[in-house]
Amino acid sequence: METPFSSQQSYIDDFSASDYFQTYYKEGEGVICGEWTDFVLRNLHETFTTGGVKGDTLIDFGAGPTIYHLLSACEVFDKIITSDFLEQNRAALQKWLKKDPDAFDWTAAIKRVCELEGDGDNYEKKAETLRSKVKEVLKCDALKTKPFDPVVLQPADCLLTCLCLEAPCKDIKSFCNVLKNFKDLIKPGGHLLILSILDATFYYVGNRYFSSMTTRKEELEEAFKEAGYEIEKAIYAPRNDQSRMDVCDYRGYYYICARKPK
Ligand SMILES: C[S@@+](CC[C@H](N)C(=O)[O-])C[C@H]1O[C@@H](n2cnc3c(N)ncnc32)[C@H](O)[C@@H]1O
Repeated sequence: METPFSSQQSYIDDFSASDYFQTYYKEGEGVICGEWTDFVLRNLHETFTTGGVKGDTLIDFGAGPTIYHLLSACEVFDKIITSDFLEQNRAALQKWLKKDPDAFDWTAAIKRVCELEGDGDNYEKKAETLRSKVKEVLKCDALKTKPFDPVVLQPADCLLTCLCLEAPCKDIKSFCNVLKNFKDLIKPGGHLLILSILDATFYYVGNRYFSSMTTRKEELEEAFKEAGYEIEKAIYAPRNDQSRMDVCDYRGYYYICARKPK
């Protein structure tokens, strides 16, 4: 089914950070806390430990109002620059960083990562480690040739983005263009890590509808190669829990770990 494309203005007007938490991440209720968070937390734990990805700076692109995907990275990077297109999402990130009592409670995800690291009791320290490593919360726009313009960033050791590019990109060509533009943000030999969903056409945030680029497994790796990256790892997993297809109709998950050539 053809679904209308969600404009940047519809994101500005209709995307609510609190509805997003409620719909997707609220413990025991959120559509993706469980399978998705497990897929991300396990893969990134492996990448930032035995996978050996580390360095000085990590750019987190299109974080929305979320921090779960940074919980392993904060142990191996000195500096994290996080970002999102929307002011309301950047405000939610600042709330968590500043320990605002109204901030979303990420304790379950933090405990999960501490368990993966073999120290389940360490969760308060981990939250503090992450807070101390996030140095900036910037505005980004994937559709700009320089996505942080007018801010100029030094190329980073790693660029990480989760569940983001399917929002602004209409198709795989536009996705590939974004990957090309990301190259200026990454050092030669640095990593581009993308984790997201396959075969989606839409998602709801509260009762607001948003379109999703339909990422097909068959086209994905080709887009990375055409953009000039070397793929180090590609992992795909099916969506097992299909009980809430009315909220978001994705059918699987992907993780591509790629490298900008030296
Ligand atoms: C489904 S949310 C994902 C949020 C978060 N990364 C996560 O893992 O839950 C999609 C995100 O794409 C962002 N977005 C929309 N248009 C964008 C654009 N032009 N450039 C960058 N991000 C954009 C939205 O602000 C939103 O945070």
